[in-house]
Amino acid sequence: ITSLPLLGRGKVRENYGIGSDKMLMVASDRLSAFDVIMNEPIPDKGRVLTGMALFWFDKLAHIIPNHGTGISPETVVAAGEVDQVRGRAQVVKKLKPVMVEAVVRGYLAGSGWKEYQDSGAVCGIKLPAGLKQASKLPEPIFTPATKAEMGEHDENISFEKMCEIVGKDLAEQIRTVSIHLYQEAADYAATRGIIIADTKFEFGLDEQGRLTLMDEVLTADSSRFWPADSYREGISPPSYDKQFVRDWLEAWRDASGQPWPKTKPA
Ligand code: C5P
Repeated sequence: ITSLPLLGRGKVRENYGIGSDKMLMVASDRLSAFDVIMNEPIPDKGRVLTGMALFWFDKLAHIIPNHGTGISPETVVAAGEVDQVRGRAQVVKKLKPVMVEAVVRGYLAGSGWKEYQDSGAVCGIKLPAGLKQASKLPEPIFTPATKAEMGEHDENISFEKMCEIVGKDLAEQIRTVSIHLYQEAADYAATRGIIIADTKFEFGLDEQGRLTLMDEVLTADSSRFWPADSYREGISPPSYDKQFVRDWLEAWRDASGQPWPKTKPA
C-alpha cells in the first residue's frame, strides 16, 4: 500500500496510519513461528486469518469492546489498491498496547506442556500430578507472556510478574476477561467439533482508558485448534493451525544444534 503512510511492519502484518487515531491493519500471507519468517507465503492466509478474527471479534463483542471501527478498508485506500486490501485488512482504533500477551490454556500443549514436565507448574500455577501431553486441564488457566520486540523471544511469566509490569488492577481485569473470552469461544467451537486447546489475546487501552481487545483474535496463528473426533490424551493431536511449522522448526533445531535463523533454514 502506498496511499497511506506505513507505521510499522511486523512479522506477518503491516499497519498504515489513517489520521491520528486510526490505522489500517493488513494481514500478509507470510507465516512466522518462533520468530522465524518462512520464505514461502501461504496463498490467501491473510484473508483466512482476517476472516477468523472478524468472526470472533463480532461473536465476543458482548464481553469486551474491540479495536474495530466498522469502516471498510476499501474506502480508505486509493482505487488501485482496493484489491490488495480486500478481505485481509481492518480499519482499527489506535490504542495504547498493554505490554503483556494474555495466553489462556484449556489443554496442555507447547510451552505449557514443556513447563509442566520441568516443574509441575505453568507460569507459577501448580497443576495436578500425572497430566499428559494434550491433557485437558481441570479448568482453563491464564498464563501471561512478555511481548518481546522483533528478534527477541516471548517468555512465559508469572501472574505476579505481570502485576509488576501492568499493575495489579489491570492484570486482574485482563485475567478475568481472557478466561471468559476463552471459555465462550471454546464452548462455541465445541459445537462445531473443534477443541480450542489454547490461545493468545492482546489488549490495549483506548483514549478513555477502557480495556479493548485488539490485534488478531482466535486465529490459526494465535491459537491451537484440534479436531475433537481424533483427540486422544497423551498424544500430540493434529492441529488446524501453524503447529506443524513449529514442529518442523524444532526438529530442525534439535538436529542441527543451531539457534533459530531469521528465515526458513535450508
Ligand atoms: O507456545 P505456547 O504454548 O506458549 O503458546 C500458547 C498459545 O499462545 C498458542 O495458542 C500460541 O499460538 C499462542 N501464542 C501466540 N503468540 C505468542 C505466543 C503464544 O499467539 N507470541
